[in-house]
Amino acid sequence: MTDRFTPIVFDLGSSSARVGWAGSDQPKFIESSVMGRKTSDGSVDPTPLRFTNFSKKYPEPIDPVRCVSFDDGKWSVDSDILAALTDALCYSQRGLNANAFERSMFLTCPTLADNAYKKILFEHFMESVQVPAFFLGDSSVLSIYAAGRVSGICVDIGASTTSISQVDKGQVVNSTQHTIAGDAIDDYIFSRVGDYINVPMSDMTEKFVHETKLAIIREIKHNACKCSHHALPTMQISPAGRSIRSQRKSMSTSPQSGVGHQSETFKLPDGTELDVSSVSEQAAELLFRPHDESGFPGLPECVREMMMTEETNPFVLLTGGSSHFHGLHTRLVHEMENTSSLIFPFSQWTHRGYSGYVGGSILASLSTFSSLWITPACYNEHGVDRLINSK
Ligand SMILES: Nc1ncnc2c1ncn2[C@@H]1O[C@H](COP(=O)(O)OP(=O)(O)OP(=O)(O)O)[C@@H](O)[C@H]1O
Ligand SMILES: [Mg+2]
Repeated sequence: MTDRFTPIVFDLGSSSARVGWAGSDQPKFIESSVMGRKTSDGSVDPTPLRFTNFSKKYPEPIDPVRCVSFDDGKWSVDSDILAALTDALCYSQRGLNANAFERSMFLTCPTLADNAYKKILFEHFMESVQVPAFFLGDSSVLSIYAAGRVSGICVDIGASTTSISQVDKGQVVNSTQHTIAGDAIDDYIFSRVGDYINVPMSDMTEKFVHETKLAIIREIKHNACKCSHHALPTMQISPAGRSIRSQRKSMSTSPQSGVGHQSETFKLPDGTELDVSSVSEQAAELLFRPHDESGFPGLPECVREMMMTEETNPFVLLTGGSSHFHGLHTRLVHEMENTSSLIFPFSQWTHRGYSGYVGGSILASLSTFSSLWITPACYNEHGVDRLINSK
């Protein structure tokens, strides 16, 4: 279904954006939602930043900026970056190449985003872009829809947040958000092995070089990390990562306390082999431990708390990019064995990161949904504040 009136579905996250046509079961593009702001005049480079693309040269230094971020318990959106990202992903030839005036826009919104956040999105699409119809859908509700339900508990482990939301008949009735998610895990891995990653980019800003290192950290996380089946005792959190050579030495002279400690290596872009055994299982462990500083009680406790407000046997959906850790679902089920509910990972492994997109895609393609779109006439008649408050 890609006739010229098929709506666009735009699932905007803090690390990546998923964009495609309504009715499709997967996004056409999954892109970084980080753009580069030139340090000289503050203008935005038109291409979303890919830090692993080492061959790309920028004519002048740029600072990476997220379109959407979660800081101090609040979601915010940078409107300059939103404009550049929307152009790049939806309306440029490199993106969907859609005509803004004829395509309705279905956008996802993080659960617990406030009215100021929603207002920026409404104003951008209704007033600046002037789409023919707009809808802002809650990402937890959409994930539950994507799993074929209208009620359940959505556990979305993304980049900046882990969000646990109770959805009842298509409405979020309770939700908590924590900052222990993909970014916190990246920082942890960085603190362990970051010193051994070399990024020769003298002409780039410090922030850019840091983000490039983080991109390599993410490769390590995606390819060399998994979730332990059982809780790792705190003492097994080993000291910071070392080079392979020093690790071999330490194995022969002072072995780790864990029996059978094996070195695991990851090949860095410059060809160096990095010992990642200090993070391969410990990184995902962050999701299962209480974190005093941020108040995160650990994933099992978060889910348990949300279940207490639910009826018996709630449907629990596990989704978000950081739910991709091998073994995470099994571990969560294992830790929750005293509860009678079933925890389902969203669809196949490959689809797990974009349940919000799939829910939006289904909804936006239903003929019965047509009366729910916000049209320019409706927007002008009621005004943005009233529309947001009535949602
Ligand atoms: N195979 C994998 N193993 C572990 N983590 C992964 C894997 N694939 C992706 N991730 C992590 O998932 C996170 C991105 O998840 P997702 O795309 O759901 O976030 P987002 O929607 O952009 O962010 P948020 O929901 O916090 O706004 C990143 O931290 C990324 O490194
Ligand atoms: Mg997300």
